[in-house]
Amino acid sequence: MKILITGGTGLIGTALSKALHRMGHDIAILTRKPNDQLDVKTYYWDPDNDEIDVAAFEDLDCIIHLAGANIAERRWTKKRKQEIYSSRVESAQFLYRKIKELKIPIKSFISSSAIGWYGAITSDDIYTEQAPCANDFLGKLSKQWELAADQFADMGCAVSKVRTGIVLSSEGGALPKMTKPIIWSQGAPLGSGKQYMPWIHIDDLCAIYIHLVEGVLPAGVYNGVAPESVTNEDLTKILAQVLEKPLWMPNIPSWALYMLLGKMSSLLLNGSRVSADKLCQNGFEFKYSEIRKAIASIIDTDR
Ligand SMILES: NC(=O)c1ccc[n+]([C@@H]2O[C@H](COP(=O)([O-])OP(=O)(O)OC[C@H]3O[C@@H](n4cnc5c(N)ncnc54)[C@H](OP(=O)(O)O)[C@@H]3O)[C@@H](O)[C@H]2O)c1
Repeated sequence: MKILITGGTGLIGTALSKALHRMGHDIAILTRKPNDQLDVKTYYWDPDNDEIDVAAFEDLDCIIHLAGANIAERRWTKKRKQEIYSSRVESAQFLYRKIKELKIPIKSFISSSAIGWYGAITSDDIYTEQAPCANDFLGKLSKQWELAADQFADMGCAVSKVRTGIVLSSEGGALPKMTKPIIWSQGAPLGSGKQYMPWIHIDDLCAIYIHLVEGVLPAGVYNGVAPESVTNEDLTKILAQVLEKPLWMPNIPSWALYMLLGKMSSLLLNGSRVSADKLCQNGFEFKYSEIRKAIASIIDTDR
């Protein structure tokens, strides 16, 4: 199958494109910086300026949309929020217009979305895919992101969306950032520490995308999170145990994180449980359903 991946150079895209390539799929990546050093073909696009190398669409069966300016990299200024929005939503709308204009008969469009759909809220609720989107920045962003994907259904294409939790990988993302202070014996829970941190191992996330590409999972919206829930405090303690480091510092106060990160601190300070039931009911088997096993697999690899 020929699969085009936007954001295929990122944390998830790199792992996913390698996995799909190993399985024998024909992989192409859309990137703002094409590079002939990769195992898979890369094609230029610049969605901000409506530019794309349409050779990427040749014999195409499926698009996986992962592109997006990093949500946790910089403070959420007005300009940064617009970048976060346009790199996900407007880029998908641009692809839709091009695919429609050139009458490319793709069979499926699979987009990343995020658990931000459910809002930066700490509560006892466990969110399933039926829950409405929250009325905050990430909730509204996720809604527009998913609506942009849904447009592809007009052309008879199967549309899926993966509301992804915190991706655990040794190659980047949240985990190396969390382990760094712990390695220096300066680790501590954030804020109350009671906020949940819905997570998923990178291998399981790639498996979800592969199952959607291959039709093993029916098209639709899925929470891309592992079944076991963990709070920030639990995760901090587990990391300290696995790394054999002491945890002696008091919790980092919420106000200090707010001073440092502004509104982006809500990403770290709030979170509720998100249900993995729909994936399980559809027969998806997690390789890493427990946090300790997931962490051990990643940290062992690093040592
Ligand atoms: N990692 C997580 O924990 C996590 C959790 C929930 C949701 N997600 C979502 O999953 C998707 C992939 O995540 P990731 O962790 O792999 O992200 P990543 O490592 O930051 O990579 C994202 C990719 O998007 C492209 N990109 C960045 N800024 C862009 C812009 N302004 N315009 C167009 N393309 C841009 C880049 O590709 P080029 O530079 O090659 O163009 C980059 O490789 C993202 O949409 C993210 O929000 C990730």
